[in-house]
Amino acid sequence: MKKLVDFLEEEMKAAFEKAGYDPNFAKVTVSNRPDLCEYQCNGAMAAAKTYHKAPMIIAGDVAVHLEGSEALEDVQAVNPGFINMKVKKEFLGSYTQEMREANQLGVEHDSQKRCIILDYGGANVAKPLHVGHLRSAIIGECLKRILRFKGHEVIGDVHLGDWGYQMGLVITELRKRNPELVYFDEQYEGEYPEEAPFTINDLEEIYPYASAYAKEHEDYKEEALAATFELQNGRKGYRALWKHIMRVSIADLKRNYENLNVTFDLWKGEADAQPYIPDMVKMMKEKGFAHLDQGALVVDVKEETDTKEIPPCMILKSDGAALYDTTDLATLVEREKLYHPDEVIYMTDKRQELHFVQVFRCAKKTGIVPEDTKLTFIGFGTMNGKDGKPFKTRAGGVMRLSDLIHGINEEMYKKIAENRTVAPEEAEKTAQMVGLAALKYGDLSNQAAKDYVFDLDKFASFEGNTGPYILYTIVRIKSILNKYKENGGDMAECRISEPHSESERGLMLEAAKFTAVMEQAYEELAPHKICGYIFDLANSFNRFYHENRILGEEDKEKQQGYLALLDLVKDILMTSIGLLGFEAPERM
Ligand code: ARG
Repeated sequence: MKKLVDFLEEEMKAAFEKAGYDPNFAKVTVSNRPDLCEYQCNGAMAAAKTYHKAPMIIAGDVAVHLEGSEALEDVQAVNPGFINMKVKKEFLGSYTQEMREANQLGVEHDSQKRCIILDYGGANVAKPLHVGHLRSAIIGECLKRILRFKGHEVIGDVHLGDWGYQMGLVITELRKRNPELVYFDEQYEGEYPEEAPFTINDLEEIYPYASAYAKEHEDYKEEALAATFELQNGRKGYRALWKHIMRVSIADLKRNYENLNVTFDLWKGEADAQPYIPDMVKMMKEKGFAHLDQGALVVDVKEETDTKEIPPCMILKSDGAALYDTTDLATLVEREKLYHPDEVIYMTDKRQELHFVQVFRCAKKTGIVPEDTKLTFIGFGTMNGKDGKPFKTRAGGVMRLSDLIHGINEEMYKKIAENRTVAPEEAEKTAQMVGLAALKYGDLSNQAAKDYVFDLDKFASFEGNTGPYILYTIVRIKSILNKYKENGGDMAECRISEPHSESERGLMLEAAKFTAVMEQAYEELAPHKICGYIFDLANSFNRFYHENRILGEEDKEKQQGYLALLDLVKDILMTSIGLLGFEAPERM
């Protein structure tokens, strides 16, 4: 469906032309003075220079030609040359009714379907998920849904950190504790048995312990590094242990992501890229892209236009070990081979930006990806505590994701139990749903690149710009619609007609912006645009709700118009939260 503002602009263009001016000046935008008008055009000011005329004269000339317009009313030229306007009642009514009947509320698929790989989540195997991984998962999941809503094929890949030093640490500690295990036998040749010699609880304790111990003990660290090296070079027993670690850890990660309503199509990781490294390195050497620099193999990626120093991409360390750059490049080799994507989008902490600049340049320069493949990096800011410092536990340690979620759910449960709107047996499930909305909305409503403060009291509030407020609004609308149906009302008879009051008009105008908002959120890959919009929409609804009797309305036609509008608003809100990645309960 065409955006509402495009209809308005079309008429504006025709009016400019009829008045003898270039229609390119006829840009229409949402008014920045909603007290004066709904939409505005500032084109007369820009045209004034071209035509050597006062803007007010031009605005007046144009306004004349908008009398009797199909979509606009109250068109006024005002000093010093703005054209102010309102949307015609009938037009607003038919536009919003059409949204109800359209597929996806009028949001169309892009004309060109693209294959996009979304690299997000980025959890590290054997290490607990921490809040830093939370943002990647939340924002990534949302972008995946937005891109699919626009009709693209999106492959979400968790890209596990499953090949690093942490594996060597865990193996070393396991060896210290259980030297008798067959896996430590140098001659070990067997396949790994079903049963892992540890549980997830063991793993969660082992990694932090080993990591801290290695920092204090140089020989232990050496041992862990050696174990990492041996694992990477194919020592059978270590490979078997590695598989165990992977299985136990991934099962746990899946549970965690499930609680966040986050899913991945691919559970690949750094390890999957390793087989591609030798050929890739060979190619880089043979084609003269790579050279030795103090023993390390590097590819220069700086460009003349750089304003700051971009160091070379590191392919191999002097001891021949691969690095983070190497793995990401080899992963691109695999992605190109298996999926041939039109775009790859990466979502990590913004502190990794330089790494991705280097990798992207190197991949293009060496031909790992074709010139027209888009490589996009989205960096997000840090989630801070109320003290403005990176989020910590009370004891000062790194906050584990599962503890954070547990804390939110508990807080939510207390509130919901107090409200007594939900049967006790439903309360826990409801608390989880509302808790997830609080967490995700609290994150997504901020521009991704910015740091933000995680403030549970604020995020969990049923009032203000929060997830629970949005859910509360949805629940309220649903309950009105349900009551109407219970009393024998038939939604099939309800259609949106013209607005009858200012508050109804305001609500219709907000609803009509949905297509434009979605387009912007998609083009800028900006979930916060959706949050800002649904907050405005929920406010408009609540104003309408307080100023009008809906179920008590006696004029039947008016009432049916109200209900149809409510139905549309509910659908917009439900679709939007679905894109943000959470759901609404029936009651709260
Ligand atoms: N595992 C990494 C981390 O914890 C994030 C991986 C991001 N994706 C990538 N292709 N490098 O920082």
